[in-house]
Amino acid sequence: MFEAILNRKTTNTAFAKKRVSREDIEILVKMASHSPSHFNSQPWRFVIVQDQQAIDKIGKIAGDAMVQLMDDGRFWKQYRKYFRFSEEEMEKSKDGIHIDHLPSFLKPFAKSIFSEAGGKIISTFKVSRILGNDEEKLVATSPMLFAIALTKDEYKKEELSGFYSVISMGAVIQTLWLVTTSMGMGMQFVSTPGEIPEKWNEIISILGIPDDYELAAVFRMGYVDDTVKRPTIDWRSSQRKDFNELAYCDRFGNEFS
Ligand SMILES: Cc1cc2nc3c(=O)[nH]c(=O)nc-3n(C[C@H](O)[C@H](O)[C@H](O)COP(=O)(O)O)c2cc1C
Repeated sequence: MFEAILNRKTTNTAFAKKRVSREDIEILVKMASHSPSHFNSQPWRFVIVQDQQAIDKIGKIAGDAMVQLMDDGRFWKQYRKYFRFSEEEMEKSKDGIHIDHLPSFLKPFAKSIFSEAGGKIISTFKVSRILGNDEEKLVATSPMLFAIALTKDEYKKEELSGFYSVISMGAVIQTLWLVTTSMGMGMQFVSTPGEIPEKWNEIISILGIPDDYELAAVFRMGYVDDTVKRPTIDWRSSQRKDFNELAYCDRFGNEFS
C-alpha cells in the first residue's frame, strides 16, 4: 500500500491504446464500493464510459472549456497563484504546479504567459488553443471515462450531509487512484468543463444523469504507457510540504520537538 500511495500521481499523458477489461472495471468498482460513507449511505453512482462517440464528444467539450476559460481570463485570474516556473520556486513553496515543459518558442515568455497580463501573448501564440487541443486529444483518446454522480438525497449544498457526501466521494476517488496505480493504470480529473455550467450540462446530458443526481466528477482512465511523450505545455507537481509544516504537536502551530 505504501508503494501505491507514493507512486500515485495524476496521469496527464496519453494512455496505452488498449480497452480497459470488464474484469478490471469490476475490480475498480468493487474496491471503490468499500470506501467509507456517512451512515454507509453510499451516495455515489458510477458511469463508466467506453463508447467512442461519447468520449469524443466529452473530449471536445473539455477542450472547448479550456479555451473558453483561458480566453476570458478566468483561468489565469483564478489559478495564477498555483504556478511555479523553476525548481527554486517549487522548493521554496513546496506546493503548486511547476510548469517545466513548454515549447521552446514560449520559454522566454513563461512568466508573462501565466499571468493575468499575459492575454496578448496568449492570443499571439495561441496558447489557449495549444492547451485546448491537448486537452481534447487527451480526453478523446482515453480508453475510458469514469464519472461519479452523487444522489441529491445526500448531496444537499449547505447541509451537513452535502459536506459528508463530498468527503465520502473523496475516499472513493483516492481508492480508485490507489487501485489504478497498483493495476498499472492511471487517471486524471477532467474538471475544466465543471467550471462552465453549460459545458457541464452537456456532459450531464451525454451521460444521461437523472435530475435527482449531481454529476460531481469525471476522470479519464486507462493503462499507463511510459513511452508516450509529455503534452506540449506540461507540469509537474510531485513536491510535498515537510512534516513540520504539515503537522503540529498538541496545538496548531506547535512543532514536534
Ligand atoms: C478537486 C480536484 C480537481 C482537480 N482538477 C484537475 C484537472 O482539472 N486537471 C488535472 O490535470 N488535474 C487536476 N487535479 C489533480 C491535481 O492537479 C493534482 O492532484 C496535484 O497537482 C498533485 O499532483 P499528483 O496528483 O500528480 O500528485 C485535481 C485534483 C483535485 C483534488
